[in-house]
Amino acid sequence: MASNEVKTTGLLGWFDKRLPVTSMWNDHMAKYYAPKNFNFWYFFGSLALLVLVNQLLTGVWLTMHYKPDAAQAFGLVEYIMRDVPWGWLIRYLHTTGASAFFVVVYLHMFRGLMYGSYKKPRELIWTFGMIIYVALMAEAFMGYVLPWGNMSFWGAKVITQLFGTIPYIGDTLLEGIRGDYNISDATLNRFFALHVVAVPIVLLILVFLHIAALHSVGSNNPDGIEIKKNKDENGIPKDGIPFHPYYSVKDIFGIGMFLIIFLGIVFLKPDMGGLFLEHDNFNIANPGSTPEHIKPVWYFTPFFAILKVVPNPFGGMIVMFSAIIALFLLPWVDRSEVKSIRYRLMPFKLALTAFVTSFVVLGYLGMVSWGAGEKLLAQVLTGVYFLYFVFLFVYTKNEKHKPIPERLTH
Ligand code: HEM
Repeated sequence: MASNEVKTTGLLGWFDKRLPVTSMWNDHMAKYYAPKNFNFWYFFGSLALLVLVNQLLTGVWLTMHYKPDAAQAFGLVEYIMRDVPWGWLIRYLHTTGASAFFVVVYLHMFRGLMYGSYKKPRELIWTFGMIIYVALMAEAFMGYVLPWGNMSFWGAKVITQLFGTIPYIGDTLLEGIRGDYNISDATLNRFFALHVVAVPIVLLILVFLHIAALHSVGSNNPDGIEIKKNKDENGIPKDGIPFHPYYSVKDIFGIGMFLIIFLGIVFLKPDMGGLFLEHDNFNIANPGSTPEHIKPVWYFTPFFAILKVVPNPFGGMIVMFSAIIALFLLPWVDRSEVKSIRYRLMPFKLALTAFVTSFVVLGYLGMVSWGAGEKLLAQVLTGVYFLYFVFLFVYTKNEKHKPIPERLTH
């Protein structure tokens, strides 16, 4: 770790002799050389870190006033909103933070698709990222059950039911997940334990590994050219600039912009018209009253639409999980020698556009009720989603591309 020899004195020197803080700072900030051409798309990693910290801090404060008790949970959330000083703000920071997390992570992933950041040597960064994404979905799903609203109850019921459709082990698994035959106080208790303790620890470990893997191979960039291939006589990449102060300042600007939008939503439209906080969840959980239209929060809806495309629930679950597994496999599905979209030709650009469009429109379809037209569209778009991976695998075997420059262009 301590690759940069440092001589420090005083208090810092005392620390450095016991824990190499200065060389750690140098290795990961002041002498970590990042490509000099980072653009807008490179804001979202640091923003994801910011949102993670927001979720952890506001989560701790919410936990001080909440109890995972089916008889009290709904009322306690109301109490937080009305009686706990600043409770409404803490809660809205947390609920808006959940949606912001997915906005940021989806844009962060899209950047990876555009610039081929998942490709060799960054397969592990991508794989850790994908495990983070799945853990994040589990975290959000369980968090949504905690306010014990009617959509919490019915959403949890419908989604856990899927596991019950697995042949042979389904019933046992379903009971294990719920801790009961139905969604109940026992379910709320275990979801609370997982949401507040287990998954956050896993997420923190994963984010550490994600960034450790990134700092080991170095960042990709919008040109998709490895800056480590062009070093000066001191071994410093010619196209690299120290992360600190150049990118720490850039990221602070990004954080400022993000906070303007984020706090605007928190203060002015925290439910986002039912998108971030669903209207049915302002009613207490009621096993006897099914919401008219059971649907998950927006960030799950592309997968929910894929699930609904298949008439058989078990089949739907397989197809839905395959949609996530396909993303895991991207580093090996894309066999091209070129990384960035800048040097790839039209077929790739069109395929990526079709893929992203299918994901977004499926997201919309996952929110609305279906007639025959919507169903057909969802079927076609599910096909487009999977075809992207097939296309990429075949097309990238001998992909033609524009000439790739030796050095960064901007
Ligand atoms: C809690 C969630 C996450 C956090 C805190 C996080 C954090 C970061 C940070 C700080 C960076 C470096 C800065 C940047 O490139 O923007 C980064 C890079 C990267 N992340 Fe994430 N990330 C998260 C989730 C994900 C997910 C879900 C994926 C994809 C499945 C992913 C894939 C990548 C890749 C491929 C890179 C390297 C990008 C490049 O060098 O071009 N990350 N991440």
